[in-house]
Amino acid sequence: MEYYNDRRIWITGASSGIGLALTEELAKSGAKLVITARRESLLNEIKESSPRPENIHVLPGDLSEIDKLNDISTRAWDAFGGLDMAIMNAGVSQRSLFREMEFETGRKLFDINFFAHAGIMHELLPRFEKQGSGHIAAVTSLSALIPSPLRIYYSSAKHALHGFYETLRTESWNSGVRVSLIIPGFIKTDISYKAVTGDGKAFGALDPLQKAGSSPAEAALKILKQLKKQKREIYVGYTPNAAIARFLGKFFPALLSKILRNMTSV
Ligand SMILES: NC(=O)c1ccc[n+]([C@@H]2O[C@H](COP(=O)([O-])OP(=O)(O)OC[C@H]3O[C@@H](n4cnc5c(N)ncnc54)[C@H](OP(=O)(O)O)[C@@H]3O)[C@@H](O)[C@H]2O)c1
Repeated sequence: MEYYNDRRIWITGASSGIGLALTEELAKSGAKLVITARRESLLNEIKESSPRPENIHVLPGDLSEIDKLNDISTRAWDAFGGLDMAIMNAGVSQRSLFREMEFETGRKLFDINFFAHAGIMHELLPRFEKQGSGHIAAVTSLSALIPSPLRIYYSSAKHALHGFYETLRTESWNSGVRVSLIIPGFIKTDISYKAVTGDGKAFGALDPLQKAGSSPAEAALKILKQLKKQKREIYVGYTPNAAIARFLGKFFPALLSKILRNMTSV
């Protein structure tokens, strides 16, 4: 995609799933990529197997370490002498009812799924505003739109992201900054394997909803086409279940809530 050629883009959560698929597609398009996740060896493999490894800067890091966000954001900005786009994609899900959740596990879910975004934006937004341009693309979730049993902290953090980025978009519009929300339904990635249960341990299995989801590569292509148009909201992975939930959530929320009452296990 010509549009992305030479664009400087930071992608968080680039080591697997949606972030990896976006990285692969953008690398083919000639973008200059800063890629972040905790698993450095995977990031190095991605760089080495890309068509132009010199266009990829590996920037490993744990974005739930809130006091280091200042440093990693500065390094992402400096890697190619500025950024044109930031794709805030890293995230961790949940698979436990609220009554089984330890408070500390829930709080940690907020660190990666909400505060990492806010902390990074404290560093990037002033830079984007100063240069008079910058496109922020935040990956949220269908769980940001509907009640999501077994995912209460994840869903709450994703709801919070909508409030955060919609306000950020409004406040920074006149400075030339654009904000897109990417709102996946179900994509077949590792998300459910790594989703945390009450005591913080990984769920470790493929959720049937994700199993039926779109492929990450298909989702990435759709996302990039819509980001090019600077769409406010981008919907991908709307399997029949996801589409019905989204429709009911918008027009018949009480009915959706009634249906979801029986969802007490995966
Ligand atoms: N798949 C779906 O059906 C679905 C639906 C709705 C929303 N989403 C959202 O899509 C985004 C991508 O998820 P995915 O489905 O592609 O899942 P995934 O394959 O599990 O990818 C998650 C990515 O986030 C990174 N990550 C997790 N914790 C991190 C941390 N503390 N610091 C830095 N990076 C971290 C992971 O890398 P490391 O483990 O190497 O750190 C990985 O690259 C998430 O925000 C998720 O909430 C997915």
